[in-house]
Amino acid sequence: MKLPFDVKSPYFLAPMAGYTDKPFRKLCREFGCGLTFSELISVNALYYDNKKTFKLIERDVSDVPYCIQLFGSEPELFVSTAKKLEGLCDCIDINAGCPAPKVLKIKAGSYLLKEPDRLFEIVKVLKKQIKKPVSVKMRMGFDKPNDLSLYLRLQDLGVDFITIHARLKTQFFKGEPDYEHIAMVRDALEIPVVANGGIDSFLKLEKVKRLTGCEFFMVGQAAIGKPYIFEDFLNMQDSKRSLEDIKKIMKRHLIYMEEFWKEKAVVKFRKFFHAYLKGYPNVKKFNNMINHAESLNEAFDIIDMIQ
Ligand SMILES: Cc1cc2nc3c(=O)[nH]c(=O)nc-3n(C[C@H](O)[C@H](O)[C@H](O)COP(=O)(O)O)c2cc1C
Repeated sequence: MKLPFDVKSPYFLAPMAGYTDKPFRKLCREFGCGLTFSELISVNALYYDNKKTFKLIERDVSDVPYCIQLFGSEPELFVSTAKKLEGLCDCIDINAGCPAPKVLKIKAGSYLLKEPDRLFEIVKVLKKQIKKPVSVKMRMGFDKPNDLSLYLRLQDLGVDFITIHARLKTQFFKGEPDYEHIAMVRDALEIPVVANGGIDSFLKLEKVKRLTGCEFFMVGQAAIGKPYIFEDFLNMQDSKRSLEDIKKIMKRHLIYMEEFWKEKAVVKFRKFFHAYLKGYPNVKKFNNMINHAESLNEAFDIIDMIQ
């Protein structure tokens, strides 16, 4: 079960709106992440050449291979947008998992699981009209688990690999994922299946490997504040990082953000700052301070003060 490109590691970074920008993807790469995705990008926004949207898909030279994830519901818009973008990435990924009401309203994201014929049509036209591989990242169902026939049809249409977030749309991000569902799909398909949902430690990774039989794994929320989780997986351990080490990672991340986001960097870094310090005692004061900081120097001083 081969992916359509070489990956140096079987551990992938999930697409996450508001988080998986160029600096964060670069940082995760440095910790050994094997494949990255842009956050979900509207096919409508790119159709009209929205500049802000182009910023979201920029990648570092080290960020290879890299998938651009598109959401929408009109097959023709997928094609025209994918044609514009396929030179900027290694794969076009279709979002069939987003539960956000504004995405469902336009019959996109996880709505495509309610109307699989629309999803099939999107895959069909993309496979016909673009040269780069096409993948699908999906929930295990909208309000009930997808039938195996849905996955088999995607395979027949030529999808290169599938990522399954093993929760229903109706579960949003809560509840234990159903890894048996992934196992069932993985056993039936010849294309690679990437397991996703709830992988937040090496211990958990071992469990998901055992339950799904998958070769490839995707980490979302746990990588925020713990980008070194990819290194932990490669070293087959759950490492305990010292606060000094965490502070070094925070500074490195902030420098990458400053290079990319310029004067917006510190404000955008705040949520990462909070995540890095999650679980450490007496951090409320520092979280408060960063919420009022705007310049790089202020942010560096605050990081230096953490003890
Ligand atoms: C803040 C946030 C933003 C997300 N944005 C996207 C997105 O743009 N595209 C997508 O396919 N999934 C998105 N997801 C879902 C994740 O990619 C992933 O499937 C989900 O979080 C389950 O994995 P995890 O338990 O490792 O976090 C997002 C999740 C979070 C928490």
